[in-house]
Amino acid sequence: MTLADDLAIQDLKPGFGALIQGVDLPTASDARIDSVVAAFHRHGAIVLRDQTMTPDDLMRFIGRFGDPEDHTQTRFTLPGYPKIFILSNRVVDGKPIGAHNDGVGWHTDYSYKPQPVMLTMLYAVEVPDEGSDTLLADGCAAWNALSPEKQDELLPLRLHHSYKHFMATREFGAQILSPELEAANPDVEHPLIRTHPADGRKALWPSTGTVTEVIGKPGPEGLALIDELVEFMTGDDFVYRHKWAKGDLLMWDNRCTLHTGTLYDDTKYFRTMHRLWVKGDKPY
Ligand code: SIN
Repeated sequence: MTLADDLAIQDLKPGFGALIQGVDLPTASDARIDSVVAAFHRHGAIVLRDQTMTPDDLMRFIGRFGDPEDHTQTRFTLPGYPKIFILSNRVVDGKPIGAHNDGVGWHTDYSYKPQPVMLTMLYAVEVPDEGSDTLLADGCAAWNALSPEKQDELLPLRLHHSYKHFMATREFGAQILSPELEAANPDVEHPLIRTHPADGRKALWPSTGTVTEVIGKPGPEGLALIDELVEFMTGDDFVYRHKWAKGDLLMWDNRCTLHTGTLYDDTKYFRTMHRLWVKGDKPY
């Protein structure tokens, strides 16, 4: 445990992420929340436990990090709160109240947009007794573990990302996009190695799902490289596994991580999360 900005902080994993204790977010001053924001930018991910957050509390908290981002699919946003997206397997009056198994598969959020989201926040409203962990992979540690030769080979590479491809091929909830969604989400290119704007640190930044091609290595050769890098980065050395409890708040920096949800017994348990995003900038 260390003390920084008067916060009690413990690594989630050596050198990555921070468990922040002793802060009650709904009653914390703006200055105290800004210490939490600073810790987030230093550590790449943060966890705060035992929080009782109303939607207004969530909006106030996220607003200290930047401008909340809209959601691509709007049908599962919380009524009256368009920036809060519901992940859930609950069905009310015959209708699902949220997206189920939405984030299963290693990815970084909004990678199909010119300016992917800077961060993702999940707040646990109700969680299963077992399963449904969220895993975060540290892209900076993975990059630093590569040989200088491998780093030189990867540094210039760029990836083609496609929302249309992602939605058509995803394991859960595959769909053909409406013409409006397709027009609003044209394909984009991003670097494979991302530089963090705060301090210049580099991160391995592949993704599964949205990547259709490594530019200059078309076909299976390029995609095999992506598979190889995702497997490397998501090995035990670089991954933090979050086991959920109700009231947990987990946030990660999408500029230097990959993440995935995991499955649970949805015939036995309910899982409901509130997800919020903060706008990001153009990757370089
Ligand atoms: C996500 O990828 O946004 C959600 C992950 C999870 O539900 O654990």
